[in-house]
Amino acid sequence: MKEESDIFPYIRERRLRSSKNIRELVAETSFKASNLMLPIFIISGEGKSQEIQSMPEIRRETSDIAVDNVGKALDLGIKSFLLFGIPDAKDELGTGAYDKNGVIPLAIRIIKKEYPEAVIAADVCLCEYTIHGHCGIVKGGIIDNDTTLPLLSEAALAYARAGADIVAPSSMMDGQVKAIRIALNEAGINDTLIMSYSSKFASALYGPFREAAGSRPTFGDRKTYQMDYRNGRQAIREIELDLREGADVVMVKPAMFYMDLISKAKDRFNIPIAAYSVSGEYSMIKGAAFNGWINENDVLMELVYSIKRAGADIIITYYSEKIAEILRSK
Ligand code: PBG
Ligand code: ZN
Repeated sequence: MKEESDIFPYIRERRLRSSKNIRELVAETSFKASNLMLPIFIISGEGKSQEIQSMPEIRRETSDIAVDNVGKALDLGIKSFLLFGIPDAKDELGTGAYDKNGVIPLAIRIIKKEYPEAVIAADVCLCEYTIHGHCGIVKGGIIDNDTTLPLLSEAALAYARAGADIVAPSSMMDGQVKAIRIALNEAGINDTLIMSYSSKFASALYGPFREAAGSRPTFGDRKTYQMDYRNGRQAIREIELDLREGADVVMVKPAMFYMDLISKAKDRFNIPIAAYSVSGEYSMIKGAAFNGWINENDVLMELVYSIKRAGADIIITYYSEKIAEILRSK
């Protein structure tokens, strides 16, 4: 019997890295453009496209322009889109969110007419539509869970009826998935998926999104409904509950700082996991790249492969087109 110390010199992990093609041969993780989902900010009207100061190269656009961009993304192999609506007028009850002829139902119809094969997901929340910028109805300074639920259900119904393939509740109200699933079923809609923002943290990384959507809360913060970033086990419980309530896909959000939870969710649940690489992740990379401090393309590949390696099936990112272009050029 040889001593372990005799065998040791012959073990060389570096053999597995010795050439590009050997590295390709043993690579554990891969992903395709079809794993990417592109978020789109929609404004009402026609022919308008607006800059978002804290998200260079991302724009708010009217649906006629969004349609063209969906076409271009489809050509790159991106097959799914996550729509956010920014209404002309906001009010106390966020009525624009559940208006059958609101910005999102109209956009869904326009996009689906041109590209029926595009998988359209619609974010379901009130914060883009309320004056106060909170994700639910405010009663006596408190974000009221149960009066918000029927409004979220109405919004989900309006989007499903307009042709959305997926509705994506993001308000972090308890019972939102159940309320929406029941409302859809009572309306005879059985095929619409629910992708729940199950474990969504109260994150400083949403800042640029709130500029884009004009949804910064006018008072307080979102810490009474979005999760505390110190809690990982609680994230698992949130996902468990959403599964019991009828979610088809669950999400971890943000992605970059929360890879431990993507990984745990993947190990625990046999259901597609989405990871949302949020606006602040986009802007951090963009800002550093803009200054020449990092190589944008290399960082993007590292980020996306890491999210995939952690266990996400769906990767939601504002960089989807760029990543698809890099994949294509490889
Ligand atoms: C709305 C919503 C937010 C995001 C997705 N849906 C903002 C928030 O909770 O303030 C953030 C996305 C991003 O930062 O890219 N509930
Ligand atoms: Zn919200």
